[in-house]
Amino acid sequence: MIVLGIESSCDETSAAVVADGRTILSNVVASSIDRHARYGGVVPEIACRAHVESILPVIDQALSEAGVTREDLGGIAVTCGPGLIGALLVGVAAAKSLAWSWGLPLVGVHHIEGHIHAARMVDPPLEYPYLSLVASGGHTALYRSDAVDTHVVLGSTTDDAAGEAFDKVASILGLSYPGGPSIERAAREGDSTAIAFPRTLLAADSLDFSFSGMKTAALYACKGQNARRDAPMLPGVRVPDVAASFQQAVVDVLVQKAAHATERFGIPRFAVVGGVAANGRLRECFEAWGAGAGVRVVFPPMALCTDNAAMIAGLGEHRLARGESDGLSLDADPRPIRA
Ligand code: KG4
Ligand code: ZN
Repeated sequence: MIVLGIESSCDETSAAVVADGRTILSNVVASSIDRHARYGGVVPEIACRAHVESILPVIDQALSEAGVTREDLGGIAVTCGPGLIGALLVGVAAAKSLAWSWGLPLVGVHHIEGHIHAARMVDPPLEYPYLSLVASGGHTALYRSDAVDTHVVLGSTTDDAAGEAFDKVASILGLSYPGGPSIERAAREGDSTAIAFPRTLLAADSLDFSFSGMKTAALYACKGQNARRDAPMLPGVRVPDVAASFQQAVVDVLVQKAAHATERFGIPRFAVVGGVAANGRLRECFEAWGAGAGVRVVFPPMALCTDNAAMIAGLGEHRLARGESDGLSLDADPRPIRA
């Protein structure tokens, strides 16, 4: 079955055409990130307007790059949540309109489950059951997946997402948005042991995360105890050292939580997905842990790690192939946990 996937939960408008849930015929992404840069984070209203402008051209491009027409499609899969409500609504409305006018079945896909499913679209696919870390600008959570439609949240952030912490610390350091890549670049010239950042692990058996303490530690290291974010930098602060020390602290926490979950469930298969998975130091540390602990660690290719519609089409295909459809009553639901 050939499925058209549509994704618009945050600042990327994406459409993809995927055959048999695995063969990516096209995966087009238009990002509005440049329009958000000056604000240091995604501005929902700007993201929604950009989706409205891009959604139909992106869908057209996905169909033409894949060399298919609507007659070849067996169904449409669209992200219905979680995410920014206005952004989600653009994708859901487009998907419903096309499903109605082309006479195709439509399924709604949970965005995070789509991210997790990316580990099934690599070669060879990660076998069930497996554990995943989803770390992006909006989400940081550990999941256990037992089957294509069985995903359990094991823990999630109690405050900032990991990517959000990178973005906020970059802003404190005067580095550009998005903060992850700029901190990684600056960290290459820095000493990761220069500043003793806390590794916030919460309760001993907790699989939840907290990054706000590290963010505050970065602020105080740069600008002084109890300083405000707009205070000047202290003399002698080396931005590369703060960047390297902060990055290592975040990576250590992510790896420790992954190791903890792996030991608890005895599952030696682990996927790392979301924009933060682009981080080179994170990859090195996860790979070293996996090699030492006998765990297969999978990093899907970046096009499948950041927000994209191929993962949505891939996951949606399973329900469409079973003859399921959510029909035109499908609605966007911005909440992280299914109601
Ligand atoms: O998955 P994504 O592209 O979009 C969503 O948030 O949904 O993730 C973007 C986040 C941003 O917070 C960005 O700073 C972070 O991922 N990020 C990184 C890196 N590249 C992107 N964080 C750390 N290191 C990176 N190299
Ligand atoms: Zn995402």
